[in-house]
Amino acid sequence: MRRLRRAEPLRRMVRETHLRPEHLVQPLFVVPGEGVEQPIASLPGVSHLSVDRALEAARRAQAAGVGALLLFGLPSRKDERGSSAWSDEEPVQRATSAIAGALPDLPVITDVCLCQYTSHGACGVLRDGAVDNDATLELLARVAVSHASAGAALVAPSDMMDGRVGAIRAALDAGDLQDTGILAYATKFASVFYGPFREAADSTPASGDRRGYQLDPANPREALREALLDIDEGADALMVKPALPYLDVLARLRDETLLPLAAYQVSGEYAMLEAGAAAGAFDRRAAVSEALLAIRRAGADLVITYHATEAAGWLR
Ligand code: PBG
Repeated sequence: MRRLRRAEPLRRMVRETHLRPEHLVQPLFVVPGEGVEQPIASLPGVSHLSVDRALEAARRAQAAGVGALLLFGLPSRKDERGSSAWSDEEPVQRATSAIAGALPDLPVITDVCLCQYTSHGACGVLRDGAVDNDATLELLARVAVSHASAGAALVAPSDMMDGRVGAIRAALDAGDLQDTGILAYATKFASVFYGPFREAADSTPASGDRRGYQLDPANPREALREALLDIDEGADALMVKPALPYLDVLARLRDETLLPLAAYQVSGEYAMLEAGAAAGAFDRRAAVSEALLAIRRAGADLVITYHATEAAGWLR
């Protein structure tokens, strides 16, 4: 076996998996205001950006060759129903139209969920203290339509309500937004690795947790059922989230569908890599590169990662 491993030119010749800048998706956290670039304590190296600064970050991402952006917003106000989520005045809508207008060759993907927008932090509207799945669908559809109208190439519902992909597809089509695609967070597990994100997005649930609608980490078959339902409802691409702890699910899904697959290396995965490198456990660049390659190897076409712009720069 060693003959073809002997030297880099030989290894390069027989390499089976590649990571290129266009495989990487850069998430951005957009906030109200102007000139804001506020480091996020839980995610070293990641900042809250106002729309003007997000546009600068988008330019840097495009210059590095990243495939797309994924936008999250922190709104100016929260209420019971999360109504700021479908307002054209809020950061995600404003950033989407600014970026789509200035950088038409850089696809913008938007996160569709209510948890950053509700006063209680749940991903939908509450009835008797529990998330009301069906009443939430109409609101998610409104959010998706507002993002698509602002210029999103794809909307990415992350709420895990049943039926949301179909509801969003129907609303987009009815709103003459047939060209906007849906990247479904098809298999989203109720994971502890979202911890730093919830601080970054100010979306920690006020009470309880999300195990009532996100997947049980123990259930790969149920995860596949979720994904197959999203395909039936009209998803254009599917996501597995988190990434590294769920590579088995990613590999199985790769065998089940011909759709493009994305994997989300989430905030806790990012934080572990950063903390490990800071502690001297491994070389930061080598560790990040190996993790991203492993996610590609397991079957991801796209890798959503907070390291996207920097890692794309390494690959140029
Ligand atoms: C929900 C959402 C979450 C993440 C992306 N979209 C948080 C959650 O479900 O609790 C997590 C992303 C990350 O941890 O990096 N809007």
